[in-house]
Amino acid sequence: MKAVIFEGPDQPAMVREVKQPIPGAKEVLIRIIAASLNRRDFWIKKGIYAGAEFPCIAGSDGSGTVEAVGPEADSGLLNKKVVINPSLNWGNNPLYHQPEFHILGLPRQGTLAQYISVPQESIWEKPIEYTFEQAAALPLAGLTAYRAMFTRGQLQEGEKVLITGAGGGVAGFLVKFASAKGAQVFVTSSHEKKIKKSIQLGATDGVLYTDNEWHKNLKEQAGGGFDLIIDSAAGANFEYLLSLLNTGGRIVIFGGTAGKIPAFTAAKLFYRQASILGTTMGSPEDFKNMLTFIQQNKIFPEIDRILPLEDTELAFKHMENQEQFGKIVIKVSEVIQ
Ligand SMILES: NC(=O)c1ccc[n+]([C@@H]2O[C@H](COP(=O)([O-])OP(=O)(O)OC[C@H]3O[C@@H](n4cnc5c(N)ncnc54)[C@H](OP(=O)(O)O)[C@@H]3O)[C@@H](O)[C@H]2O)c1
Repeated sequence: MKAVIFEGPDQPAMVREVKQPIPGAKEVLIRIIAASLNRRDFWIKKGIYAGAEFPCIAGSDGSGTVEAVGPEADSGLLNKKVVINPSLNWGNNPLYHQPEFHILGLPRQGTLAQYISVPQESIWEKPIEYTFEQAAALPLAGLTAYRAMFTRGQLQEGEKVLITGAGGGVAGFLVKFASAKGAQVFVTSSHEKKIKKSIQLGATDGVLYTDNEWHKNLKEQAGGGFDLIIDSAAGANFEYLLSLLNTGGRIVIFGGTAGKIPAFTAAKLFYRQASILGTTMGSPEDFKNMLTFIQQNKIFPEIDRILPLEDTELAFKHMENQEQFGKIVIKVSEVIQ
């Protein structure tokens, strides 16, 4: 089969012929029709993601059809059109994952390949209204966004919410999820056009985080502070986020794109009765609830572009330059009717 291989840290993504996987006892073999990229794949490619090993086949997101099942897997799954939940081995506790938890695409083979074997419990029926490309854009970002916004952030209707880095793959879902819940949504971004795009998706307004006075402008624009802030940047701007919280507010962090959080004034946290919550991926229940939520609210992923497998390197360049709005999808193979 063809697969995208990272041969070493910071090397171009190469399409190579590799051995097709054989499904384990309770696994299913998926013919991947579409995959999508996440920032995680980019960190792995750079060699700076914890545990990155080379050569490897990355990719956490994929949709396709079930082509074969392992000897102990459910043969009724054959030919099903599916989407893969990349949050593997979560365990039974909805509050947090067990030590065996891992994300599809490292250490095990990822979705940037024509075939993949995954545990049968990790596949879910593709939402019927979704194309395979839309389904491939959904899992990791949709799941992360759902858990951050609802399970951890406990967003309530009518609350004011801030989403940082509006152009990100997860952020696109966050804006749509919060708007669908009836919250008032504001965003930050490095591009004016991404703020405008977020407004089309349901946001009220937004500011450029690249402006020195962004936090002051935002407070003025929003007419006060925020009940919930969902952030994936961390870095030097974090203390401003604390200043933007209403009393009793929550900050949910799911990434650290802008690096370490420098020292901040503790009073900004305790005097506001504020909560800082971390979140990663989601439980099987979060995934199921996310699928229900998007279908009930007719939410579709924002797809920046769809590129063929051969252009995966170009897709990563595009991500590196932060040009995208929403998800970059890789078309792996054609649908067989
Ligand atoms: N914990 C988890 O389960 C989980 C899951 C998914 C992702 N993540 C992490 O979350 C982060 C975002 O992931 P993603 O897949 O959505 O990434 P992505 O699609 O590559 O988007 C990253 C976005 O970050 C924004 N950004 C960059 N520097 C920023 C800054 N200083 N302040 C505010 N925003 C900034 C940019 O927004 P603009 O283009 O609008 O400027 C950029 O588009 C990554 O660090 C990723 O590793 C974690």
